[in-house]
Amino acid sequence: MRRPIIAGNWKMNKTCGEAVALIEELKHLIVERKDVETLVCPAYTALYSVGEALAGTGIGLGAQDVFWKDKGAYTGQISPPMLLDVGVRYVIVGHSEARGRFGVPESDFNGAILLHFGDTDVSVNRKLKASLAAGLIPICCVGETIGERKAGDTDSVVQSQTENALAGVAASAVPGIVFAYEPVWAIGTGEVCEPNEADRVCGVIRSTVERIFGGGAAAEVRVQYGGSVKPDNADELLSKPNIDGALVGGASLNAGDFAAIINACPR
Ligand code: 13P
Repeated sequence: MRRPIIAGNWKMNKTCGEAVALIEELKHLIVERKDVETLVCPAYTALYSVGEALAGTGIGLGAQDVFWKDKGAYTGQISPPMLLDVGVRYVIVGHSEARGRFGVPESDFNGAILLHFGDTDVSVNRKLKASLAAGLIPICCVGETIGERKAGDTDSVVQSQTENALAGVAASAVPGIVFAYEPVWAIGTGEVCEPNEADRVCGVIRSTVERIFGGGAAAEVRVQYGGSVKPDNADELLSKPNIDGALVGGASLNAGDFAAIINACPR
């Protein structure tokens, strides 16, 4: 039985004071669900304060990105040991807002966020392996743009991003990885992927894991759905057999909405 995992990706929102206030609000709204793993991913600057505010809540702390070296002349980067040092246990890698989509027309992004920081399948793979080596739980995002979907390339894009992310990863580490299927066109647009289709593509990720690492790893690896998850669509998405949780952007900035999404996990 895979334990559902609900993560809030706060993106570039909340100063330290605002972030702690959100946690204080969340604490009063969350009904303890031992059967659901829950975490929030604030901006780097708020990690320490949020980590302190989370003490004793059972809610985990995640970061939104990481660099693969431990230290050195890498201006602007944050390493796995630095994340561990402030209490981080999870890290998002390969978010579409961080991946570079060279050669993909801007219109493919549906007018959504088009701010890319050059991540490639190779850098995502390095970040994922460095996270695993440090004992962090990576949440690896994959997903197609609207142009790729319209061209019928959804499955091949998701398969290749999954496969490339896993290059050189030991089979024993695979069950500790979380994947997030985040169709780029559904992120921040209010346009959620139809639940049966989201379930099907999460199944494509699982079968890619199965092809490389076998049925045992595939049965254990967790796959979240992300992209306009809200309290009113969470029930249906989270009841699907291949969807093991949600990576929530906008709705995680509202304590009531995030608590409702956690509670939408089937018991
Ligand atoms: P939204 O929930 O705002 O669509 O964002 C999804 C996302 O990108 C989570 O990582």
